[in-house]
Amino acid sequence: MSLTSRPRARIKELLSSTSPQVEVLVKGWLRTRRDSRGFSFLEINDGSCLANLQVVVTESCQGFDLVKDLGTGAAVALTGNLIPSAGQGQKWELAPLELVLVGASGSDYPLQKKRHTDEYLREIAHLRPRTNKYGAMIRLRSEVSFAIHQFFRERGFFYVHTPIITGSDCEGAGEMFQVTTLKDPASDPTYSSDFFGRYAALTVSGQLEAELLALALDRVYTFGPAFRAENSNTARHAAEFWMVEPEMAFADLADDMDLAEALIKSVARFALERSAEDLALFDKFVEPGLLARLRVLVDSNYPRATYREAVDILRASGRQFEFEPTYGADLATEHERFLCEEHFKRPVIIYNYPKAIKPFYMRVNEDETVAAMDLLVPKVGELVGGSQREERRDVLLARMAELNLSTAPYWWYLDSRRWGSAPHAGFGLGFERLIMMLTGIANIRDAIPFPRTPKNLSF
Ligand code: 4AD
Ligand code: MG
Repeated sequence: MSLTSRPRARIKELLSSTSPQVEVLVKGWLRTRRDSRGFSFLEINDGSCLANLQVVVTESCQGFDLVKDLGTGAAVALTGNLIPSAGQGQKWELAPLELVLVGASGSDYPLQKKRHTDEYLREIAHLRPRTNKYGAMIRLRSEVSFAIHQFFRERGFFYVHTPIITGSDCEGAGEMFQVTTLKDPASDPTYSSDFFGRYAALTVSGQLEAELLALALDRVYTFGPAFRAENSNTARHAAEFWMVEPEMAFADLADDMDLAEALIKSVARFALERSAEDLALFDKFVEPGLLARLRVLVDSNYPRATYREAVDILRASGRQFEFEPTYGADLATEHERFLCEEHFKRPVIIYNYPKAIKPFYMRVNEDETVAAMDLLVPKVGELVGGSQREERRDVLLARMAELNLSTAPYWWYLDSRRWGSAPHAGFGLGFERLIMMLTGIANIRDAIPFPRTPKNLSF
C-alpha cells in the first residue's frame, strides 16, 4: 500500500520545512477535529514536537468517509502534499490525498477536554504522555539527559555504570528496598538460603562505587536510577528517581561546587536553546515568568554561604517558620526555599554542615563540620547534595565507629583508602528535581512518566 511504502516524515521536520513538499507520509494521533460543509480540519500530533500538523481533508481525499467517525486519540496515517497554510498560526498544512485509520478511538477516550487537573492525569498516567504538557516534559527529559552526557564528555569524564543491587547503604539512612528471592525472609535471618547468600537491596546511590572508579579513571559520572524507601509523601520525593553522580579525583569541595554550578548553567542554557518550544508551553501554562527565571539562573553567579551563615540569615530574617532554624539541625525545605527564593533570589550553595547530620563518608573539617555542600534552587530547594570525601583511612574508621557502622560491608571502600588514596569529591543531582527546576512543575509525580511513591504503583 502506498501509505507504508514511502519513508515517513515526522511533523517536527515538516513544520520547519523551507519549501512545499509532495506526497509525504505522516502518522500520528488525532488531537482535534472540526467539521465544515464538505471538509474537515484535523490536528495531528506525532510526538516529535509540541505543535500539531493541521490537515484539511476534502471530499477528494481517499478515505474521506472515515473522517466523520474519527474520534480524538485515533491513530491515523496520511499521505498528502505539504502546502503553505491559509490559516493563522502555522506556516504549513497538509492537503491529504489518502487517509487510513490505523487504530480507532471511541467517545470514551479520557482526554477529550483540552485541560485536565494534574491529579486526574496522574490517574491516567498511561495516557497523559499524549497531552501537551506531559509530552513536553518527556521530550525535555530526553534533551536534558543528552545535555548532561555532553557536559561531562566535553570535560573528560567517563560515563560509568554502578550496581543497582547492592549490599551496602551509601547514605546510612536505612531507607533501602530489600531484594530477596525468599518467600518468607523472616524464616532465614542470616539470608544463607537467599539468592546472594546475604542481605541485598536496591541502591540509594552509586557514589561509593563511583569513588572506586574515580580513583582509577580520575573523572567519572553515573546517571542511573536510585531507590529510597523513605515514607515521605512530599512533592519532592519519589521512591524511584534518577540521579547524576560525578566523582573527581584530586579535587576538593571548591572544585565540587564549581562543577555543580557549571553543570546546572550548561544544562539550563542547552534547554533554553534546544527545547524552546516546550519551555514556552511551561512558561505560559505552568509557571508564568519561567523563562526569565531560567535566564537569571544561566547568567548569575551562585552565592556560597556556610551552614552557620545560612542559619544566621534565617534567624535574622524575622520570618515565622514552621520549624525554627537552629544551629545543628538540618535545614527544612521552607528554610532552603527562603534562602534561594527570597534572600538570594537565585541558586545558592550552602557548605560545611554539622557532621552530626551528614553521612559517614564526608570529609571531616577541623571544627565539628564536614566538607559537604548542598545546592539549593528556587521552586525546588535541594537539587544537588555533595561533598569532599574522607580520604584519610584512620579518620574514616573513627567516624564509622562514632556512627556505630559495621565496617565489614564496606571493606572494599576502606581498602581504597590503603593504596593511593587521594583527595576526591563528587555530588548527586536529582534528575526529576532538575526537570522541576526547568519547567516549574511543582510535584515530582509530574516530572517522571510513571512515578513511584508510597502506596502508588498503578502503572
Ligand atoms: O543528597 P543525597 O541523598 O546525596 C547522595 O545520595 C550522595 N550519595 C550523592 C553523591 O554525593 N554522589 O541525594 C542527592 C540528590 C538530592 O540533592 C536530590 O536532588 C536527589 O538526589 N534526591 C531525590 N530526588 C527525588 N526523590 C528522592 N527521594 C530523592 N532523594 C534524593
Ligand atoms: Mg542531600
